[in-house]
Amino acid sequence: MVKIGIILGSTRPGRRGEQVARWVAERAARRGDAEFEVVDLLDHPLPHLDELPGEYLHAHTRAWSQTITRFDGFVVVTPEYNHSAPAALKNALDFLRDEWRNKAIGFVSYGGVGGARAVEQLRLVCGALDLADVAVQVTLPLATEFENLATLKPGEHNVVALDKLLDQVVAWSGALGPLRSTSTDEDELRAHVGRIVDGIRAKDLDALGRLYSEDVVSFDVQPPLQHAGVDAKLKNWSEAFDAFEELDYEVRDLTLTTGGTVAFGHCFGRLSGTLRNGIATDGMWVRATFCFRKIDGSWLVTHDQVSVPLDIATGGGVTDLVP
Ligand SMILES: Cc1cc2nc3c(=O)[nH]c(=O)nc-3n(C[C@H](O)[C@H](O)[C@H](O)COP(=O)(O)O)c2cc1C
Repeated sequence: MVKIGIILGSTRPGRRGEQVARWVAERAARRGDAEFEVVDLLDHPLPHLDELPGEYLHAHTRAWSQTITRFDGFVVVTPEYNHSAPAALKNALDFLRDEWRNKAIGFVSYGGVGGARAVEQLRLVCGALDLADVAVQVTLPLATEFENLATLKPGEHNVVALDKLLDQVVAWSGALGPLRSTSTDEDELRAHVGRIVDGIRAKDLDALGRLYSEDVVSFDVQPPLQHAGVDAKLKNWSEAFDAFEELDYEVRDLTLTTGGTVAFGHCFGRLSGTLRNGIATDGMWVRATFCFRKIDGSWLVTHDQVSVPLDIATGGGVTDLVP
């Protein structure tokens, strides 16, 4: 069954958007052909865009990415602000790229003139994101659809329009499924690397242990030549964690290639933080290569390689390069 996110695009105190989203969710809940869930932008307080596409350094982006990845299609509930959509909604759309691709989207708008101009602009944005926008639209002018300009009382024609909109969004979300499956592996792998970063930041050996195969062979940056098996890999992380009072891990330029049940990727990574002796360190940028296998339906790291370049003249590692 497809999952549809009802995105509530307004965030201001006293917003009318909440009752509009509730109406859409209640109407949608009567159907048996899809699951619906309200996604409130207030639960995803994103700053002004502070990421590069697909390279998520911040927890707020990873959380937003994981939320949007869960859905096959969307209904956006949007007001009109100054002849356009709310900045928070546009920003939330801009934050992601692949997570929107090949999904259906429909619009329920409201405002002085029903929010029609906001939706016209959102349709252009959706085109750039490969979101398939359905034509049928619900527009709710404040003067006719809100009692005393305050309480939503949608006319019957808008109830009919909403049902048609949901029909179309559900149908297109299902029909676009085969196109989405080509990008799903990359999404999953990107999320997998995100979970490795989260595990490192939380010094969570249990969580990290679930991300590697039992027989992982790691050519880590520390000796010995190889760390064979997940226990050896975790022992290595455990020693690194012991050295730090507080730590952070950054990933840059993650590139992934998938093919069936095997995939690989590379990125730059940097462990930094405050050592047990109180000294803060920026750490060093390393090159990391991951090899993945899909085992029993889940991606796991079966090999990784972490290194710094070698200065041939001195025989030492070069640790001061920045990507
Ligand atoms: C900053 C601002 C700008 C607005 N500009 C327009 C507008 O250009 N056209 C319109 O029809 N309504 C406009 N309105 C009215 C809103 O669409 C209406 O107040 C709506 O309820 C706002 O959504 P919200 O209550 O969920 O925040 C504007 C409201 C605000 C707060």
